[in-house]
Amino acid sequence: MNKTIEKIVSLCKRRGFIFQSSDIYGGFSAVYDYGPLGIELKNNISQLWWKEMTQTHENIVGLDSGILMHPKIWEASGHVGAFNDPLVDCKQCKARYRADEFSEDFNSLDWTEIKCPNCGTTGKMTEPRQFNLMFKTHVGPVEETGTEAFLRPETAQGIYVNYQLVQGAMRMKIPFGIAQIGKAFRNEIIARNFIFRTREFEQMEMQYFVKPGTDDSIMKEWKEKRFQFYLDQLCIVEKKLRYKEHGENELAHYAKEAWDIEYEFPFGWSEIEGIHNRTDYDLSRHEEFSGKNLNYFDQPNNERFLPYIIETSAGLNRMLLTVLADAYWEDEENNRVVMKLHPRLAPVKAVVCPLVKKDGLPEKAREIMDILKPHFKIVYDQQGSIGKRYYRQDEAGTPFGITVDHQSSEDNTVTLRHRDTQKQDRVSIDKLVNTIQENI
Ligand code: GAP
Repeated sequence: MNKTIEKIVSLCKRRGFIFQSSDIYGGFSAVYDYGPLGIELKNNISQLWWKEMTQTHENIVGLDSGILMHPKIWEASGHVGAFNDPLVDCKQCKARYRADEFSEDFNSLDWTEIKCPNCGTTGKMTEPRQFNLMFKTHVGPVEETGTEAFLRPETAQGIYVNYQLVQGAMRMKIPFGIAQIGKAFRNEIIARNFIFRTREFEQMEMQYFVKPGTDDSIMKEWKEKRFQFYLDQLCIVEKKLRYKEHGENELAHYAKEAWDIEYEFPFGWSEIEGIHNRTDYDLSRHEEFSGKNLNYFDQPNNERFLPYIIETSAGLNRMLLTVLADAYWEDEENNRVVMKLHPRLAPVKAVVCPLVKKDGLPEKAREIMDILKPHFKIVYDQQGSIGKRYYRQDEAGTPFGITVDHQSSEDNTVTLRHRDTQKQDRVSIDKLVNTIQENI
């Protein structure tokens, strides 16, 4: 099977997972809209993450902070000064690249010898220039100095500036965590590979506040837990996942140690989540810029300290692309494409199909819809041959096909088709809820 990103993009459009933004206007670069199946899948993934963080860990609580925040936050965090990408242009064809695409050590390259990958001209590349990735806007009706604000490039800072309020209100004792899911914006120079790198995306970040000195061992614990999440909750194939440590030159301005969880996408191994030891960098900078004391008081030991922070930072859209890429399967034997999503993740859990549009079968199928609807997201389909109906749902990743036939009216049973094996069982209607539930 030749699994390409183009095939996944095409299926996503065809089945209503993901659309290019502003399609009727010719599209809007590096922004995507999530269709009916995409939003269900995205919600299923983010709910698993939220549950894992805030429900299975008693010492992690949630937060939803604003996208717009005090502009000084971004000076303190270092984003105004250091959140840059190196940019080079081809003077011949105007193509634009990130300099680090040519070499990680791009500063030592002789740019007069570099050939433009687009037009093939050598000697027309500019020297790298630093380009800040934050989107600027203005707050209030007048665009003047002092009204400038930024769209947040990470959700993390909203957690740091609220950490004392959360800690006090919830009486949290170190170590404790604060989790947040929300939009982030980056004016990426080169946005590519579908939803992998976009200008508007969602992050799922958890900041874990720890006592300095315990940070190395807690970092190790979170590294293991986060890797396991991909295996246990998202059911990703283990050999497609790996850890990669950031080298000295790759470390972000705030990090003492950083690891990426990578997935082998059709376009190669790429980062889906980062686990970072941010030390007390952020809190100490916010102390400096706000003038507020952000110390934590450890009552039993009667000591005050600035916590260190272990961060787990995942992109929801990249996680979704990981799930889609992992699930895509061309069943050559049966000439069909299947999204082998775990039933827990599948946007729709079952399709209910009357075998024919007469003899009371649609009415019986509607009765089954009414039984299942309070429990699961299901769809009704009576259009086209039964085979076509199943194949449509195979591409949507729907794990169960329920067919109502003439026998159903006689003995209250239906056929239950399993997506991956196409095996069919005869199941009593009153057992359907339990049977589906057991698989989720
Ligand atoms: N708070 C730390 C932080 O933001 P990051 O490595 O820059 O660290 C974390 O981003 C995660 O956010 C990445 O692993 C990725 O999943 C996601 N991400 C970052 N930039 C993205 C983009 N332009 N499009 C989609 N996802 C992105």
